[in-house]
Amino acid sequence: MNPQDVQGWVSDAAQAFAQADNLDSLKVARLAHVGDKAPISLASRALGSLSPDEKASAGKIIGEAKAEIGRLLADATARLEAERDARVLIEEVVDITLPVQRAHRGGLHPITIIKNEVSDFFIEQGFSVEEGPELESGWLNFDALNIPADHPARTMQDTFYIEPIESGMVLRTQTSPVQIRTMLSQQPPIYVISPGRTFRADELDATHSPVFHQVEGLVVDKGITMAHLKGTLDNFARHMFGDDVTTRLRPSFFPFTEPSAEVDIFFNGRWIEWGGCGMVNPKVLATCGIDTSIFSGFAFGMGLERTLMVRHGITDMHDIVEGDLRFTRQFGVGL
Ligand code: PHE
Repeated sequence: MNPQDVQGWVSDAAQAFAQADNLDSLKVARLAHVGDKAPISLASRALGSLSPDEKASAGKIIGEAKAEIGRLLADATARLEAERDARVLIEEVVDITLPVQRAHRGGLHPITIIKNEVSDFFIEQGFSVEEGPELESGWLNFDALNIPADHPARTMQDTFYIEPIESGMVLRTQTSPVQIRTMLSQQPPIYVISPGRTFRADELDATHSPVFHQVEGLVVDKGITMAHLKGTLDNFARHMFGDDVTTRLRPSFFPFTEPSAEVDIFFNGRWIEWGGCGMVNPKVLATCGIDTSIFSGFAFGMGLERTLMVRHGITDMHDIVEGDLRFTRQFGVGL
């Protein structure tokens, strides 16, 4: 064994380690220069076959060379690990000072929430939900409901008429035309509610909006009495306002119900008007081709804005129509 060869192995290893520019290529160089088949390893194993004298001197040379290669490898490893760490810090940097993108999920308007709540309540009891058009014929919105041509509700002040006036079309002033549509298209027994948007030529103020929502209820069946109406309203009121609420019917007038009543609720220590109701006027049933000797019915209608305002102590209609998220969020709309 020639000491120059050993020196050559050391300088070959030094060169290979220096040329490695990442930890993977260093691994290849390490296998070549210190692995089982590396010249220095083979020479180290061959020492056993030498005479004791030769073994002592060759062993010293090889031992020193191995130690040198080991140091070179350790230096190269430290250099490449430091380079990798520095690179990872740059490549994987996260700027935690960047402003976050706040994505709002959107949500339901409180009127939609209360509309769904009312619908769910009645669907549970076997009612179905009917919808009608917002642009309605005057006949369905008024005449069929026994609201004669000279009724004040038909004047230009209350109703949005649609041009040309001769079309006879109006923006529905109530959800009651859906009663007529239902009775014209279905045979009793009828158990329906119709929540929807309604329109009246009112200025927007604390308690009015030209666009608002009503929910109408209609039941037509054999032997329907005011007791059924009262019981239905009691349950409905308790569902909306809590078990402590009391209802009372106050005599009133609507052309399409006879007798008619206002339904009031006793809520938070006072009587509050909630909506209108009554037994469906036999004239209206007859208009829709229902045999009044067999069937009778009741109907009720209330404003959804009013229901929401009473229940939540909202004092200004503007809050409901303006869509300010600071208001809407309070209803748990998941924004
Ligand atoms: N449609 C009536 C209104 O808008 C309310 C109502 C509905 C009254 C059904 C009686 C029966 O004032």
